Amino acid sequence: FFCSQASSDGFLACLTASVPEQLLFTRSSPSFASVLASSVRNRRFLTQATVRPICIVTAMNASHVQAAVVCGRRHGVRLRVRSGGHDYEGLSFRSTRLETFAVIDLAGLRSVRVSLGSPREEAPSTAWVDSGATLGELYHAIGKASDRLAFPAGLCPTVGVGGHLSGGGFGMLLRKHGLAADHVVDATLVDAEGRVLDRDAMGQDVFWAIRGGGGGGSFGIVLSWQVKLVAVPPAVTAFTIPKSVEQGAVDILTKWQEVAPALPDDLFVRVLVQRQVAKFQALYLGTCDALLPVMRHRFPELGVNHKHCKEMTWLGPTPWTPPPARPRPTTSDMRSPHRAGVLYNVQYMNFWGGGGGDGAAQKRWIRDMYAFMEPHVSKNPREAYVNYRDLDLGTNVVVGNVTSYEAGKVWGEKYYKDNFRRLAMAKRQIDPDDYFRNEQSIPPLDADE
Ligand code: FDA
Repeated sequence: FFCSQASSDGFLACLTASVPEQLLFTRSSPSFASVLASSVRNRRFLTQATVRPICIVTAMNASHVQAAVVCGRRHGVRLRVRSGGHDYEGLSFRSTRLETFAVIDLAGLRSVRVSLGSPREEAPSTAWVDSGATLGELYHAIGKASDRLAFPAGLCPTVGVGGHLSGGGFGMLLRKHGLAADHVVDATLVDAEGRVLDRDAMGQDVFWAIRGGGGGGSFGIVLSWQVKLVAVPPAVTAFTIPKSVEQGAVDILTKWQEVAPALPDDLFVRVLVQRQVAKFQALYLGTCDALLPVMRHRFPELGVNHKHCKEMTWLGPTPWTPPPARPRPTTSDMRSPHRAGVLYNVQYMNFWGGGGGDGAAQKRWIRDMYAFMEPHVSKNPREAYVNYRDLDLGTNVVVGNVTSYEAGKVWGEKYYKDNFRRLAMAKRQIDPDDYFRNEQSIPPLDADE
């Protein structure tokens, strides 16, 4: 897939026939840099060394997305799809290799339509949400429609729906309701031919694959998702309790490891460990009065009392905000393809900024930490969560213009275990030419291979 100057010119000329010029930003546009940076969370990817797109298409409707795909295929320009821009490796807007590509940015496609169900007719409450909406916008729209409904997805309100659902997605409702992708009941997808397909039209294998398989960017461009909402009580309770080493953090953390997986499903307790302080953060689906006996019985060492409780509706106010520094999580340990028996998902993070230099020391620290943890986590393969994307796990090799399945297994089985093969067969069905491709996209595999 070679792209010359002539083909990028052809791509742009083709686009202007279907997409209004004010929605197209080429490198020479005065606003190119600010549009590119608009949703980038990790400024590490905005240096001079970043391989940038030739053009950003800020789609406002499905036809703009279709045009980008049709023109891209015709003129040999690949696309990177960006919804919320939170990809930990920046794969939605940059390439780690020298290649010519355009970004299709879906931030203009962000409507949310909630439909309240009818218990008498056994019709569930659902929402259609566009990929460019943020989780915060989805939660807000649900909260406005009903204070008894919620959606089980991530904690950070700025994360984009498009990437999040493509890679699974979880938050404080995980123990009771599973992953965000588990609740998708329909979707619309622009495929590599530029067609808009719904669940029936894309077929069950591809519909299975787009819900968490591939972390986005492998099967096509998802325009919107229909999700089933879950019931929550009118009051939920949150608490955050920091424990320093002097306050017994090590022993309490050790106890948490035994207790947390066996708590009632209504209760989720996570821990953030930073600078020798362990911060225990919890969400309970019920009142403080109902929570305290559970905590006193199961986890008295934490010493939760009324003063720690914050009762609120599920919507918030959320006590957990993302840190204002540059995140660099190199990796995670998780068994996402296995639900039963999964105890923990560990995310390793480091931050630098301002006078923090080039991050070499921080990266070394995190790689050492990852190596140190090896005896304590899953093995053969050591598993990882695709929404915590990590190119250190391995990157694709292209052989004869198609991504190699064998080479992809190195990183793919860490994210998906045996499901990697099934994902590769779904990729073959929907995109046999491997148009949607990036450093960790699912390679196509023939069922007979
Ligand atoms: P972005 O737009 O960067 O896309 C991510 C990937 O999906 C890219 O490969 C992109 O090409 C592809 N993609 C995007 N839109 C697509 C579409 N419409 N169709 C097809 N492919 C598409 N995770 C979690 O489970 N729980 C959490 O609480 C959090 N919290 C969190 C906080 C912060 C600050 C960050 C930076 C990240 C998280 N995450 C997380 C991880 C997050 O779920 C993950 O990075 C998502 O992929 C982000 O989705 P975006 O749409 O924002 O990313």
